[in-house]
Amino acid sequence: MRELKICEVAPRDGLQSLGRVLSVEERVDFVSRLYRAGLFKIEVGALVNPKLVPAMAGSDEVFTKLSALFPENQKNFSLLVPNAKGLEKAFAIGCQSVAFFTATSETFNQKNINRTVAESIAELGPLIAAAREKGMLVRLYVSTVFDCAYEGTKNPEKELAIFSELFDSVDEISLGDTTGRGTPQQVATLIAHGILDRWRDKIWWHFHDTYGHAADNVRVAMREGFTQFDSSAGGIGGCPFSPGAKGNIATEKVLSLAREAGLAHNIRLEGVRLL
Ligand code: HMG
Ligand code: MG
Repeated sequence: MRELKICEVAPRDGLQSLGRVLSVEERVDFVSRLYRAGLFKIEVGALVNPKLVPAMAGSDEVFTKLSALFPENQKNFSLLVPNAKGLEKAFAIGCQSVAFFTATSETFNQKNINRTVAESIAELGPLIAAAREKGMLVRLYVSTVFDCAYEGTKNPEKELAIFSELFDSVDEISLGDTTGRGTPQQVATLIAHGILDRWRDKIWWHFHDTYGHAADNVRVAMREGFTQFDSSAGGIGGCPFSPGAKGNIATEKVLSLAREAGLAHNIRLEGVRLL
């Protein structure tokens, strides 16, 4: 039986847009409950400008406390890193798994990280190389793959090509439907096009669920043989720089879709208090 893999993003994607800021201790408790439920691969925070995303302030402390509590899982606690300053912080605290991010939309990328897409690509190449040199597991998010809050419908079959070199250089590629407007047809078309074939084993799908398409999007990806998904326990999530974006697909939902698709897992979220 093939195995489902989940990257649990509630502690980062969910909490960054929750509307209330959780303390470091509350976040450590939250992640601990998820970990004990069998979610090992967890994005536990973001080393971004805390003035822009106050809910992620203290993510370094969250990581350090979790690493002390669960040293056996340290490599699976990842942090979102936007730039060299964030990567230096990740090195300093002994983080071994980082996620960089960019987008296919110029407007969103500017609003999110104050860079053009070309600037992002130029900046990320050396950062990815530096992280890999230290033996880190490196993920790259590409946002606005199917749709952008500012630019509308996207054309991933063409627009993903500029990231080819970066895709070659990372361990994981997470394709973000940031607004949740992506449709099953778009997902099917992108897969059928073949542009992803070269990196098939590295692909993770990151669906937000604003319009109720996320479950069907996951179904299409599972039907096409993909097994790696980002999801959020309780379905919280959203990007402060993408107006209207709602929660990520709930981890609970992905688990039930995995049952439908015959994918195995050992995650037990029933009865787990989330927030
Ligand atoms: P910048 O303005 O280019 O940075 O920001 P700068 O180097 O000019 O510095 C400006 C200020 O930011 C300075 O502070 C720096 O110290 C500080 P000041 O002197 O004004 O007090 N700074 C930092 N502080 C902490 N950690 C850092 C850091 N870097 C600079 N690493 C930057 C560029 C990217 C940092 C900024 O725009 C930022 O933090 N943006 C936040 C982006 C973010 O968190 N977005 C949400 C996550 S992405 C997402 O949700 C999508 C995803 O889920 C996938 C999907 O759904 O599609 C991943
Ligand atoms: Mg997201």
